[in-house]
Amino acid sequence: MRQEILRVEATRNRRRFLKFLFSSPLLLGVSHQNNWAQQADAPGQADLRHAINVFDLEAVAQAKIAPHHWAYLASGGDDEKTLRANADDFDLYQIRPKRFVDIRQMDLSCELFGQRYPSPLFLSPVGSQKAFHPEAEVATAKAAAQRGHQMVLSSVSSFSVSEVAASYGRAPWFQLYPTDVWSVTEGIIRRAEDAGCPALVLTLDNGASSNRERLIRERLNSKVPCNACHTPGPQGYLSTRGTYRGLDLSSITTHLGVYTWELIDRIRNLTKMKMVAKGIMTAGDAALSVERGFDAVWVSNHGGRQLNSLFAPIEALPEVVQAVNGRCPILLDGGVRRGTDIFKALALGASAVCIGRPYIWGLGGFGQAGVAKALELLDAELLTDMKLAGTPTIAAITSSFVQRRQR
Ligand SMILES: Cc1cc2nc3c(=O)[nH]c(=O)nc-3n(C[C@H](O)[C@H](O)[C@H](O)COP(=O)(O)O)c2cc1C
Repeated sequence: MRQEILRVEATRNRRRFLKFLFSSPLLLGVSHQNNWAQQADAPGQADLRHAINVFDLEAVAQAKIAPHHWAYLASGGDDEKTLRANADDFDLYQIRPKRFVDIRQMDLSCELFGQRYPSPLFLSPVGSQKAFHPEAEVATAKAAAQRGHQMVLSSVSSFSVSEVAASYGRAPWFQLYPTDVWSVTEGIIRRAEDAGCPALVLTLDNGASSNRERLIRERLNSKVPCNACHTPGPQGYLSTRGTYRGLDLSSITTHLGVYTWELIDRIRNLTKMKMVAKGIMTAGDAALSVERGFDAVWVSNHGGRQLNSLFAPIEALPEVVQAVNGRCPILLDGGVRRGTDIFKALALGASAVCIGRPYIWGLGGFGQAGVAKALELLDAELLTDMKLAGTPTIAAITSSFVQRRQR
């Protein structure tokens, strides 16, 4: 009997090993990042517990999300040079470790706008999350709450700000796209304020539609026309977005209005929420944001989805930090995929570091549990990296821990 058990176990081990071997990047000549999904019999059935990095979640999400929605998530501007640079350019910086540091007690907590967080990792606003999972922002909110991460809700979210606040246990930060009709813009700001949102994020880099060729191509090839599910025009689009429900949308011509200083001042006079300028990429705009009363600056190029050939946020960070000169907190997103990326952004002066696609990969693959897993994986990597670099606290991660790659 025991012999038989050992034989079965040996066969099983051999099969596992062969599966590993044949799916090895060494044999297949493919990137290490796809390894996990290829090992699973079908990526859609992969076991969440075996995900070891966020790229594992990406592979499953791609298998589960409808191709046209995947194209919406994955696409960048034009030929996606900026999208690639966002992630790749973290490699322009290298970590300089410090020895003789006591790393037995570690603390990843940080403070922003008077609130203490267990981790400096925040969730960037991502619109239309029902395209990726039916529980959409509700699942995201529950996962973020479960782990204490700050969630920033898109104004074009599938669920309303009050529905998301109920799932989050408190109000998230609210990101705002202004329409071209003030009463609608005012209406959604009031809804965010009434829900208790402490901060309003003005996205400044999306005042015009960009050329997302991957998405355009997928639309042309898709057997499912977008109009089969989406009513065309801004009214049709916004009427399905929770926060706009019940507002008079009849006279708007765009849901992506342009931010003028007149509009920004009008918003400033309307709300007591902290105001965050998202999409800042240069020292000049950073300085202007602080001088004109923004409470924080968010270095971002919209995940490489807007202007192509724009440099990566990690490259913009040093000049923004210098221009802000400690006058307000600085957030950063774009291409953050590893604990080391978070570490480098913190070292270069970010107060919090945000992710967009990686948590959506978790959502698309596994719902709430997947979002929680993405956050857990990145926190775990950051913790390890902090130990190895010799920085027991977030405050200890300073510019002396990075150097620009020589070459
Ligand atoms: C599918 C998708 C939808 C997005 N929707 C919004 C949005 O509604 N508002 C906004 O300010 N930014 C939006 N963004 C940009 C993100 O907030 C963030 O800047 C970007 O995703 C960060 O880059 P990363 O995806 O490489 O982490 C979106 C990004 C993606 C991928």
